[in-house]
Amino acid sequence: MLALLFVAAVSAAQAIHPERWPQVTRVVPRDPQIEKAVDDLLSKMTVEEKVAQVIQPSIASVTPADVKAYHFGSVLNGGGGWPGDVRKASPKDWLAKADEFYTASMDTSDGKQAIPIIWGSDAVHGHSNIVGATLFPHNIGLGATRDYDLIRRIGEITATEMSVTGIDWSFSPVVAVARDDRWGRTYETYSEDPEIVRHAAEKFIEGLQGAPGSAVFLGRGKVIATAKHFIGDGGTVAGKDQGDNVTSEYELRDIHGRGYLGAMQQGVQSVMISQSAWHGREMHGHRALITDVLKGRLGFDGFIIGDWNGHGQVARCSNKSCPDAFNAGVDMFMVPDDWKALYENTLAQVRAGEISSERLNDAVRRILRVKMRAGLWSAGKPSQRPLGGHLESLGSVEHREIARQAVRESIVLLKNNGALLPIRPQQSVLVAGDGADNIGKQCGGWTLTWQGDGNTNADFPGGTSIWAGIRSAVEAAGGRATLSVDGSFTDKPDVAIVVFGENPYAEWEGDLKNIVYEDDKHLTILRKLKDAGVPVVSLFLSGRPLWVNPFLNASDAFVAAWLPGTEGEGIADVLLRVPDGNVRNDFRGKLSFSWPKLPTQTVLNREDADYVPLFPLGFGLTYKNRRELPSLPVDTSGVKEIRENTIFVAGHAEPWKLHVDERLMSQDEAGGRRILRWPGGERREISLSGTQPVDLTTKTKEGWSLAVDVMVEKRPTLPVALSMGEGTVDITPRLRSIPVGEWRTMRIPLRCFAAAGADMSRIDTPFRFSTAGELELRFADIELTPMKTQPACPPVIK
Ligand code: BGC
Ligand code: BGC
Repeated sequence: MLALLFVAAVSAAQAIHPERWPQVTRVVPRDPQIEKAVDDLLSKMTVEEKVAQVIQPSIASVTPADVKAYHFGSVLNGGGGWPGDVRKASPKDWLAKADEFYTASMDTSDGKQAIPIIWGSDAVHGHSNIVGATLFPHNIGLGATRDYDLIRRIGEITATEMSVTGIDWSFSPVVAVARDDRWGRTYETYSEDPEIVRHAAEKFIEGLQGAPGSAVFLGRGKVIATAKHFIGDGGTVAGKDQGDNVTSEYELRDIHGRGYLGAMQQGVQSVMISQSAWHGREMHGHRALITDVLKGRLGFDGFIIGDWNGHGQVARCSNKSCPDAFNAGVDMFMVPDDWKALYENTLAQVRAGEISSERLNDAVRRILRVKMRAGLWSAGKPSQRPLGGHLESLGSVEHREIARQAVRESIVLLKNNGALLPIRPQQSVLVAGDGADNIGKQCGGWTLTWQGDGNTNADFPGGTSIWAGIRSAVEAAGGRATLSVDGSFTDKPDVAIVVFGENPYAEWEGDLKNIVYEDDKHLTILRKLKDAGVPVVSLFLSGRPLWVNPFLNASDAFVAAWLPGTEGEGIADVLLRVPDGNVRNDFRGKLSFSWPKLPTQTVLNREDADYVPLFPLGFGLTYKNRRELPSLPVDTSGVKEIRENTIFVAGHAEPWKLHVDERLMSQDEAGGRRILRWPGGERREISLSGTQPVDLTTKTKEGWSLAVDVMVEKRPTLPVALSMGEGTVDITPRLRSIPVGEWRTMRIPLRCFAAAGADMSRIDTPFRFSTAGELELRFADIELTPMKTQPACPPVIK
């Protein structure tokens, strides 16, 4: 099945039909005065100044002096990028740096035009790179609130806190629709349901930018918003980050495109391109989707920003040069480090006519238009703007109160047997688990650092852990709260709350091969408490639904708390009663994702023909509706099979590691990226190896084979060797007999490798492939499969 998908992924180049996409009327009409001012300015700019507008370096590699020399249009800080590379840079340091960049961009001493620079940052759950900012639940939790007005308010607060530190532009919201929960960015998305994504995106953008047509639009305390990542990032094969989306054009439009409709209806001013591909073609080079669909049919007249060297992945491009991405419609390159070379190459390409002056003018016009709409010339230095330096507005009590409300509304009650919740606070409450007193874990990725790792509670001044919230509510009512991370106790508590779940991750680092949540440590804690007769509440922190049947079974109550952010008190607000015994706050959260019943349900969405979730989209108990959840099956054999027999599927190799000689990696004409090209001359190889050798003797005896999906593009000119362990066979005749350009599965019985000298009881390299000649091919899945017939072995290579 997966193999088939992959075949589809790389075989046909897919056409786009712009007329199938809705024609959108712009909600921000062109202002003739602005358009004229843009034209006037354009006519005074040199080609060098124009090219500089389309370059966005990172503050880690560019200085205000560079900005003064080149007049770049923008800078960014990446996740975990801070002024001076100081992790704890203060809000004042951020503002001072913003002033320096602004001043440099406005310098006219060398005859260049004064054009305010804009600084972009990933404020994806609040102003999340700044110590002391209010951090909200990640989008997956906000989707569960269905409270769109609250989401708008969160956008407003985020814009306010950004303005305090002088940042003009947020790389949010993510409007992806995550369809495979193995994707490491699932938590950055509001829902698997395109309609929820559309509403949430619309309201969040309204909060960041202000309502189009109103006096506040891009005015005081507002920032430029970015809908990202265009398009299809949530629908890649196997949920692989930056992978390939092979859905139809209709699905692209109706599922992955819905958030962009919401964004257009709210006048979003920038869109970021995805590092994923559609049917093998890199989005950064996809002219039909960027120019014909987004700028054409959807009427987008803001500017397009690339994503972190995404242009470098386009066929024939590198991080330092990519006229094709620019010509496809990318208006500004995000080029963290290689800005100098990219600037020079782009300039040369304009001079040589490889990039037309119309295209350059169009890109610069879009950037200037947005800057003028944002009133940046009259706004002055970031510190002089209305909110600049108003530190009382960063992480304020009022802002934290809204974040706390969001926590209350986002958590979803999945199980509450015997009506264990809400808890009377006048009892002895044990709080356990490594997430209990751990604000970093509560916050997830994109928190002070890119991965959200390495944070301690001291890094969150003003924030509250879940434990701290429970303790204060229990103690205020005269009860007794005890923190015991490992769950041990001397006096038996009346009830235990165990907080555990996924550790922080971001982007592909969070990609999973399956959705089974494995955590023996906390499962043991839950079981021990249960065995001791202590009623147990599980509070599960995660960036996605995961298969947790054993944990559900071991708990009387189970709450999906997502990644709630800095205001941990919001949890106690719902879990505990008020002292007089009344319900303090009931649960309001409803799942914005379907929750798996089977460990193999990695793709589980409401529209599936065979939709059998454990809890459907929209599920969420309240204290009013009771329901007893029976004990659930815990069989994982289906997953075990996937794990043991898969060596490399849809780009995932875990637990094996893929090693490819870099010089072999190449891209096909369609912008695909999986073609391997052996230039000949010396022996070069691709291999998969692991740290733990596996024992394949039984499979060898039972007649299993190594199955390799391969498409030959150019037949081998010299012998090709395939090895498993120490056994090597000659597969040249096989490769020569496969028709060029067609996928075939090549099966080599394991006994052939044994006969060639492999010790099948200790295989640490299940796949090694090399030739010294010329050859071009692609691989899809590499698996161990049982075989009914036993073909002859290829000749052995000694
Ligand atoms: C940056 C992130 C970026 C990532 C991509 C990191 O070093 O901090 O913002 O998304 O690299 O490679
Ligand atoms: C991510 C973007 C992010 C950018 C800047 C990229 O790697 O994909 O979402 O905005 O880095 O940090």
